[in-house]
Amino acid sequence: MNRSVIVLTTLGFVSIIVPACALQRSSAPRSGHAPPGQPAAESRPADNSRCLTCHAGFARESLSQSHLRHHTLCIDCHGPSTAHVQGAAAGVQADVLFGRSQVEPFCTSCHETPHRAPGRVAAWARDHRGQVRPNGWRIDSANICTDCHGEHALKPKREAIVKQVAASRQASVPLFNGRDLTGWIAEGNAAWRVENGMIVGTQGPGNAAGDLLTEASYRDFELTVTYRVVWPANSGVWFRYQGPGKAYQADILEYTKPVAYSGTIYCPGKLFLAINADKDLVNREGWNTLTVRAQGDHLQVWLNGSPVAEARDSTSDTGRIGFQIHPGKDFGPMKLVVRRIVLQPL
Ligand code: HEC
Ligand code: HEC
Ligand code: HEC
Ligand code: HEC
Repeated sequence: MNRSVIVLTTLGFVSIIVPACALQRSSAPRSGHAPPGQPAAESRPADNSRCLTCHAGFARESLSQSHLRHHTLCIDCHGPSTAHVQGAAAGVQADVLFGRSQVEPFCTSCHETPHRAPGRVAAWARDHRGQVRPNGWRIDSANICTDCHGEHALKPKREAIVKQVAASRQASVPLFNGRDLTGWIAEGNAAWRVENGMIVGTQGPGNAAGDLLTEASYRDFELTVTYRVVWPANSGVWFRYQGPGKAYQADILEYTKPVAYSGTIYCPGKLFLAINADKDLVNREGWNTLTVRAQGDHLQVWLNGSPVAEARDSTSDTGRIGFQIHPGKDFGPMKLVVRRIVLQPL
């Protein structure tokens, strides 16, 4: 399946999914990212978590996620913004902001010739003329990069951002305190520990399996997990877990029959409810962000900002959140490392 497609939802909203495979086709952008005042490599954060505490919605925003996959962070485009992080409530703005006319020159400073097939983009723009994208911008003859790509630039901006930030700050529940496993219960014989502020799971003696589950149950939520894994692995993020036979899981795996990659939705007794078949969306060697949204019978998963699986199912309507370590010698080297896990009740 070619995922470099434009998905037109039933609502008539257009969202563009440009997968990693499209990148190889694009004229390679300059990858040097160093606006003046940017922290030196040693003090450089590994991810966007400092910004995501308030801008939670950006955990599944495709423009910031696709750049994150290539280690271009919020701060590479917006500057370190330390004063903003500390003083956003007092109205201190991010270091680097963009007026509408500045966006295109900025983007093309790295993407010198952004479109490998300009004809296809022009054809797409013709086909979608007049339609409104999820960021509020309408497709017309005067679009700039961020009107079409991602949900980054919201319209009208400030009002929408303040609303978004207020929602993420009010509601988000950090499930992991960064120090110990308070609030979590290990079931089975896998080994769970906290190392350097991260949850680490491996098999127990004799390649034993196990789960690490929250004490509390959650019904409707958006859950964001930042993790990495040592392959070969068969793991995943449990949600609405009531027991081994009544639960869902956003999988972390490489399955062959049928072909399925991380982000696939598993349900005990039904195998996969929806499959991520695009292995290019997985960062095998580094950090990945998995976002699960469960509302009523509607289940959705994003991997690194791209929507990968969606299903309607009513097997389980509430339950615990957790991580799984699968048994067996085949997965002996497996190691799951979770850096961040935040839940936003809906
Ligand atoms: C403490 C909460 C908080 C944190 C942390 C935070 N922001 Fe913000 N941000 C806000 C709020 C609130 C707004 C709404 C606009 C305003 O008040 O100016 C905002 C707005 C913005 C804007 C829009 C322009 C503006 O008004 O500043 C940008 C760009 C931005 N943030 C980037 C970042 C980046 C990059 C980071 C991480 C380095 C970050 N933010 C971290 C709260 C935060
Ligand atoms: C590749 C560069 C790039 C990255 C990475 C990036 N941004 Fe932006 N961001 C921009 C540009 C350019 C705009 C202006 C878009 C426009 O006006 O259409 C913008 C706009 C915004 C806005 C709206 C306010 C404004 O000035 O238009 C917010 C809020 C924001 N970014 C936050 C973030 C956060 C938080 C992250 C990381 C999770 C991030 N951005 C990552 C380039 C980037
Ligand atoms: C600092 C350099 C830099 C800037 C500035 C930048 N990009 Fe990128 N962008 C990259 C890199 C690196 C990649 C990964 C491409 C690759 O590896 O071939 C990328 C990838 C992309 C992709 C493809 C993502 C995917 O997963 O398929 C899109 C779309 C994109 N950029 C749009 C933009 C837009 C729009 C802007 C302006 C808001 C922008 N970029 C600004 C460096 C940059
Ligand atoms: C009218 C909407 C629109 C605008 C404006 C737009 N793009 Fe795109 N872009 C697309 C579409 C559609 C695709 C997918 C093209 C395809 O399937 O061949 C795409 C693909 C890309 C890709 C992936 C590489 C490729 O050749 O497909 C990059 C990178 C990119 N755009 C960057 C940019 C940048 C940077 C700007 C601003 C200078 C920009 N785009 C403006 C619609 C747009």
